[in-house]
Amino acid sequence: MAEKNKSEVSAQALGRLMNAAAKAREGSVAPYSKFRVGAALLTKAGEIVSGANVESASYGLTCCAERVALFNALTSGKRNFVAVAVVARADGGPMPCGACRQLLAEYASDAKVYIADSRRLKVVKQFSVGELLPGAFLDFRPA
Ligand code: THU
Repeated sequence: MAEKNKSEVSAQALGRLMNAAAKAREGSVAPYSKFRVGAALLTKAGEIVSGANVESASYGLTCCAERVALFNALTSGKRNFVAVAVVARADGGPMPCGACRQLLAEYASDAKVYIADSRRLKVVKQFSVGELLPGAFLDFRPA
């Protein structure tokens, strides 16, 4: 490749982001599935906000790492997300669920999503949010 895509984050920023997601994963509260996930968002300004999954005895109330990170960032006033890293101990890394894809489409549509296995912390998959949720529902106004 002659020229790097300018919208991609630098290797250094991606390394910081991966480390933040791995660190956040240590805060995972997953007593039921034992599947510990960490996520971190990078803003255009270079700020990083992270989160981890939290499970409930009423299983459906569980909140994924991506949404915890996103809610944390949004409620801290952060916007303009350029990247999201998601890390778990899984072959091929963890794939964001449908609910998280919807929220990412609404609040982080320009972000690249980087997936990693916590045992190696190397990107194993990479997507745009549009690739993860084509045709996202974004407009509820009646015609
Ligand atoms: N989970 C995440 O936090 N993010 C993902 O991308 C995949 C799934 C969590 C939800 C639940 O706590 C556990 O993983 C098992 O589904």
